Amino acid sequence: MTTVHVSASREYDVLIGRGLLDRLGEVVKSCTKAQTAVVIAGDRVFPLYGARAMVSLEAVGLRTLSYVIPHGEQHKTLETYGALLRFLSEKRLTRTDVLIALGGGVTGDLTGFAAATYQRGIDFVQVPTTLLAAVDSSVGGKTAVDLPTGKNQVGAFWQPAAVLCDPELMKTLPEDEFRCGTAEVVKYGMLGSAAFFESLEQHGVKDRLEDVIRTCVEMKRDIVGEDEYDRGRRQVLNLGHSFGHAVEACSRFTILHGQAVAIGMALITRAAVKRGDCPQDALDRLLALLERFGLPTGTDYGADELFAALGTDKKRSGSTMHLVIPEDIGRCRIEAMLLPAVRELLRLGGVK
Ligand code: NAD
Ligand code: GLY
Repeated sequence: MTTVHVSASREYDVLIGRGLLDRLGEVVKSCTKAQTAVVIAGDRVFPLYGARAMVSLEAVGLRTLSYVIPHGEQHKTLETYGALLRFLSEKRLTRTDVLIALGGGVTGDLTGFAAATYQRGIDFVQVPTTLLAAVDSSVGGKTAVDLPTGKNQVGAFWQPAAVLCDPELMKTLPEDEFRCGTAEVVKYGMLGSAAFFESLEQHGVKDRLEDVIRTCVEMKRDIVGEDEYDRGRRQVLNLGHSFGHAVEACSRFTILHGQAVAIGMALITRAAVKRGDCPQDALDRLLALLERFGLPTGTDYGADELFAALGTDKKRSGSTMHLVIPEDIGRCRIEAMLLPAVRELLRLGGVK
């Protein structure tokens, strides 16, 4: 087992290791004062891992409840959130109890936001079951739900009490969902480590899952430790996400988050090459790696549609947007741009 310690407004450990799910109770006991734990999971994940999580929590004497939500981004809403809060209140959860987010980024974001706001904040523990959640969304304390006008429009920064990451749980992940996680993994190499990017080119992800997760979590720990509230450096984690969120929104979420991030990274890197900010070789290597991981690198949506979908992006403030511009493999910068320049960037990225 590997432990990565995160220092933010709250200190906590990210535990990474096979078989850790059976130690969930022990971990919850060691980092919270809970008497009741509520396992929150999607309707696909709960039948797979819910019982094991509950047995582990019950074994350490916790009153253990479960709450199952419908799976999918379309349920990361105020309605699902409101129903969960009502359940917690009906079951008389107190401020010292704990929520367990067992699932991918949708479950983690929703449960985290409920934890941030129920009785002005209670503990939660992240148990990521997707690669994307393991390397990104379970760490760093961004929690949110969507509005019909855009993703993650309502949320809070609220750090977990612990993250328990068991790579065994990813064995049941559909191939498409695993690929989505690899898009975020490539993002880390692209934004901050040429050596890590090269290791992905040489060895891929699947056969060394624990190492890959650890490397990404360590990179995220460093960034979050420096800029927890996303006022500066943390924005590099949005590489590919501005255009990616627009693609996701245009597709009405039929294109998955990780696929959209891959498209977004390809678009912004093509544009960076055209502007002379990034060498052609970096683009060639990025496209080759994304394609090797089975990820898309282009879109048929037009510049008008994508630009309109950027309207509610949180990286926008007034008439400017902060975009992450790749300068090479392993290096990027944040650039504030006026909206017409963002539109031009889409065109340079190859969008019609
Ligand atoms: P997800 O949570 O929707 O999970 C993907 C699918 O896989 C779901 O259908 C789920 O039921 C299924 N699934 C999950 N684990 C499984 C397993 N082990 N076996 C079988 N099926 C399993 O999607 P995701 O890609 O994990 O997360 C995407 C979400 O994360 C988006 O809402 C995005 O906005 C958010 N996100 C948040 C942050 C953050 O910092 N908070 C960062 C990145 C992404
Ligand atoms: N995934 C973006 C962030 O955590 O900042």
